Amino acid sequence: MAFSSSCFVSFLGFLFILNGVQAWSKEGHVMTCKIAQELLAPDAAHAVRMLLPDYVKGNLSALCVWPDQIRHWYRYRWTSPLHFIDTPDDACSFDYSRDCHDTHGGKDMCVAGAIRNFTTQLSHYHEGSSDRRYNMTEALLFVSHFMGDIHQPMHVGFTSDEGGNTIDLRWFRHKSNLHHVWDREIILTAAAQFFDKDMESLRKAIQANFTHGLWSDDVTSWKDCDDISACVNKYAKESIKLACKWGYKGVDAGETLSDDYFNSRMPIVMKRIAQGGVRLSMILNRVFGGSSSIEDALVAT
Ligand SMILES: *[C@@H]1O[C@H](CO)[C@@H](O)[C@H](O)[C@H]1NC(C)=O
Ligand SMILES: *[C@@H]1O[C@H](CO)[C@@H](O)[C@H](O)[C@H]1NC(C)=O
Ligand SMILES: *[C@@H]1O[C@H](CO)[C@@H](O)[C@H](O)[C@H]1NC(C)=O
Ligand SMILES: *[C@@H]1O[C@H](CO)[C@@H](O)[C@H](O)[C@H]1NC(C)=O
Repeated sequence: MAFSSSCFVSFLGFLFILNGVQAWSKEGHVMTCKIAQELLAPDAAHAVRMLLPDYVKGNLSALCVWPDQIRHWYRYRWTSPLHFIDTPDDACSFDYSRDCHDTHGGKDMCVAGAIRNFTTQLSHYHEGSSDRRYNMTEALLFVSHFMGDIHQPMHVGFTSDEGGNTIDLRWFRHKSNLHHVWDREIILTAAAQFFDKDMESLRKAIQANFTHGLWSDDVTSWKDCDDISACVNKYAKESIKLACKWGYKGVDAGETLSDDYFNSRMPIVMKRIAQGGVRLSMILNRVFGGSSSIEDALVAT
């Protein structure tokens, strides 16, 4: 009896995790990675193609959701805390040494630590092909995925509500939660309202807004980065600030969010997808860049 009920409890726990704690939706990750891949310089484009398994035919976005698919497998359970950061309730700030740990206090076990980790691993890509300590394909997929996650404001949310996961509410007419609104609902509603549900058109509209539109003057500053640790801290700080100012602001559990919330938050979601993609390309261009000049160094080695 004790055995079967604890099995049952862990089965429920498993379902809860699968349904409750998610990441930037498949759509968000696919757009981020596609934006990044189109901005790769030849050296980086080549390295990415070499690292991807043949069956995706060079399409990075086809595997950008892989870290979500494997995070509950026994072998990859250690990666589960790497998708987000829990910050103190209502502090609206991020402090790496205070916040970047798992629930057991394991240092660096958060999305900011993971990007540092896997970027450092990738920076050794050029140092010979045999006897590598790390799996470079996995490192590429993790960096690509986590650069999406760190830009999703609610992935750097408050601890007690699990980044909005426990704030149940309605999105227009169906049940959702605040985390999921930012992971997926806003993206799907934008695609439905403006692009006949076509994600490719949505992605192209985001791209147009940073190549020659709204954000074209900002792209250079988005890419500013001398040191990966400082940069991931900046991205996480941006996210928690946005989570406070736009995510949590004025939202009560149980309410219905609709047009007002959608119209005011959609521009932020779109900009974060653009920034995530542009910055992922910056990282990949630097770690896979042919030159070893000091300007290209991102991690102290
Ligand atoms: C790449 O993969 C994504 C995600 O699976 C898919 O939506 C897209 O159509 C693929 N692109 C190509 C050119 O196959
Ligand atoms: C870094 O990656 C290695 C595996 O390549 C893993 O064992 C370690 O836990 C990772 N740490 C973080 C913070 O991602
Ligand atoms: C690297 O990881 C991928 C994905 O888990 C796996 O398919 C591949 O076999 C690994 N490569 C090596 C050399 O272990
Ligand atoms: C692109 O920018 C225009 C304003 O110039 C804005 O109305 C539109 O919503 C933006 N599109 C996306 C997908 O961000």
